[in-house]
Amino acid sequence: MENLRINGERLWDSLMEMAKIGATEKGGVCRLALTDLDRESRDLFVKWCKEAGCSVEVDAIGNIFARRPGRNNELPAILTGSHLDSQPTGGKFDGAYGVLAGLEVIRSLNDAGYETEHPVEIVAWTNEEGSRFAPAMLGSGAYTGALDPEWCLARTDLEGKSVAEELQRIGYAGDKPLGGRPVAACFEAHIEQGPVLEAEEKPIGVVTGGQGQRWYELTFIGQEAHAGPTPMARRKDALVGAAEAVQLVNQIGFDFQPDACATCGMMQVSPNSRNVIPGHVWVTIDMRHPVDDRLSGMDAALRAGVEEIAKRRNLEVQLDAIWHFPATPFDSDCVAAVRDGASALGYAHRDIVSGAGHDAINMAGVAPTGMIFVPCEDGISHNEIENATPEDLTAGANVLLQAMLRSDQK
Ligand code: GLV
Ligand code: MN
Ligand code: MN
Ligand code: MN
Repeated sequence: MENLRINGERLWDSLMEMAKIGATEKGGVCRLALTDLDRESRDLFVKWCKEAGCSVEVDAIGNIFARRPGRNNELPAILTGSHLDSQPTGGKFDGAYGVLAGLEVIRSLNDAGYETEHPVEIVAWTNEEGSRFAPAMLGSGAYTGALDPEWCLARTDLEGKSVAEELQRIGYAGDKPLGGRPVAACFEAHIEQGPVLEAEEKPIGVVTGGQGQRWYELTFIGQEAHAGPTPMARRKDALVGAAEAVQLVNQIGFDFQPDACATCGMMQVSPNSRNVIPGHVWVTIDMRHPVDDRLSGMDAALRAGVEEIAKRRNLEVQLDAIWHFPATPFDSDCVAAVRDGASALGYAHRDIVSGAGHDAINMAGVAPTGMIFVPCEDGISHNEIENATPEDLTAGANVLLQAMLRSDQK
């Protein structure tokens, strides 16, 4: 079993082929969930899975499951996978790596004529990024019951198009029910998206869990008025309130160190005219912490802070908490399988907590789950210049294979 290796060159070629879909000028990808480009990437993945001898099923929220039978198909599957959608200015590896590393595992098992005890499944989850449709990890959330499926299907993008409509349009509103696939163990391979592994020259991160996360939508309502005749003291400027809120969120990130992160990523100003005092501003907030009590403290600071801004600036305010998940430890056996796999292959490794959200965090609620990280250049991700070396990507996929085989033999 320990002699089995994946084919790193084939993995790299597949990553580069997939990266042509939605390729951007700066070397990244723009493959927003449920767009025509997302459909193209799904079609290519399905084609490759069928060529590798897998049967393919799609569930009601468009999650794709490809299955390679095992010796005993009554046993629950060993599942792996990630996502094919990207950020608007995304990289080639965020998500696609975990999906294609899974495919490479299956291709390598085929090459070796290796029969697993359990069936092996690869999943491509719908809308992991949360960029077009909020929140993130939507497909896995609906699958695991972390989110209400009907609510997920009704989520809309900024143009008012719903997840359900767009799934229909691209032909991925599947006929399989959500959830309920028996899973013995689940693994997701992913680039780290941060600087730790690269700095320590460790090709493998043994992910012990994910930090907690809270998403909000904040709206300030003031009064539109003429930018010339309206004296400063009389204004109800929603954008000035929002600007203070952005500062507040950033300060909360600093105040809850170590390990806190707090970001405002989107803003819409209305009426968005240069000589009208903005009457309405909408801002998104993303706050994360690995310790739930600290994340609750950040939440309290945010609520108090925006109320204070609104009062002082004479604005109406609405803070909607749209999504939340707690800090999530991974399964000790799955974590051990990753660590043992890395050790057996002689790869330097360290334990690490995921700063990013991943579908594996949802899966941890319904099945034993673990993750494998590999370094990315300068720790940069959610950026077109995101990069990783073929050697590290190969190492991660080899550890994925070993972890899956270890779980298969338990
Ligand atoms: C999405 O990729 C996230 O981690 O927020
Ligand atoms: Mn990702
Ligand atoms: Mn991402
Ligand atoms: Mn993510």
